[in-house]
Amino acid sequence: MRSVVVGFGGALPQKCIKNDELPESLNTSDEWISQRTGIKQRYVISEGESTSTLATEAAKDALRFARISPNDVDLIVVGTTTGDYTFPATACLVQKNLDITNGCPAFDVSAACSGFIYALDVADSFIRMGKAKQALVIGADSFSKILDWNDRSSCVLFGDGAGAVVLKAEENTDKGIQYCKIYADGSYSDFLTTTGGVATTQHAGVVTMRGREVFKFAVEKFCSSFQELLESNDLTIDDVDLIVPHQANVRILNKFVDVLKIDPKKIVVTIDAHSNTSAATIPLALNKIKDSIGTNKNVVLLSMGAGFTWGATLVRM
Ligand code: UT7
Repeated sequence: MRSVVVGFGGALPQKCIKNDELPESLNTSDEWISQRTGIKQRYVISEGESTSTLATEAAKDALRFARISPNDVDLIVVGTTTGDYTFPATACLVQKNLDITNGCPAFDVSAACSGFIYALDVADSFIRMGKAKQALVIGADSFSKILDWNDRSSCVLFGDGAGAVVLKAEENTDKGIQYCKIYADGSYSDFLTTTGGVATTQHAGVVTMRGREVFKFAVEKFCSSFQELLESNDLTIDDVDLIVPHQANVRILNKFVDVLKIDPKKIVVTIDAHSNTSAATIPLALNKIKDSIGTNKNVVLLSMGAGFTWGATLVRM
């Protein structure tokens, strides 16, 4: 049994802030942000928008693409660390918003920027075990709500958004998820974290990070998890058609390409338009390229996030 990707969707907030529209008090510039990160703009939620509204729009989009009606979904997994509430899960809010009344399981997975890959692995496991047939997998975050808007070293990097895919159980196919491996190393938990949380400060806190160390770790883990994926599937770089990595900094992607001597044309880059939307970067990028992916293509997804968490997935489209 394989999980075939049959739908893609995405949603961005209405408000877009370009680099040169950031507050002057931040003492930053379009030049610094563009050169050091590749980011040109970010979308941020306003009144009436939230992680669950974005996740719902992305889910609707993906279901439309897949031509599947909401009540035929039998699993909802959302990768997020910025849910609307401490509980219930964002996945339950999506279920309510989509009027899904069939009682299917709906839950969130917390792996920061790796949330989508973690959610995908969980949903794929459900499908392989025969516990789900049509799963909605969403990556959604609203980091604008947990940024210190006075800290130029972090607040310029992130934005809000949601992306979704629909997985369908299919037998006797060479398409679908071929390989999914997720990892974590909690000894790095304080390298990229928030200043608070429910059981400590009773508030979500704001993002803090050791930027340079996060950068190095991301390059190292993109390389090692990608190489492990190739070896495990008996593939070479030439067998891979597209790589959709987590979008944190275009220089991380350039370094990864340099180290492994990958054709840069194989790397999907959306950070200029979306910034770092945490768990949403990969499904938003997939949604952006959905019409040009083609069939029988080997697509690799790579993630890295707080925890540290990271992961690599091989999907045959
Ligand atoms: O999803 C995972 C989440 N996070 C990441 O992946 C982030 C990974 N790290 C990075 O992308 C990079 O380390 C950053 C973009 C965060 C920083 O880039 P950098 O090239 O490592 O710069 P830096 O931290 O070494 O700072 C260089 C200079 C400093 O000034 P001085 O000390 O050299 O005078 C900073 O104060 O740049 C300054 N700076 C800024 N200047 C203008 C830091 N942020 C800004 C800013 N505008 N926004």
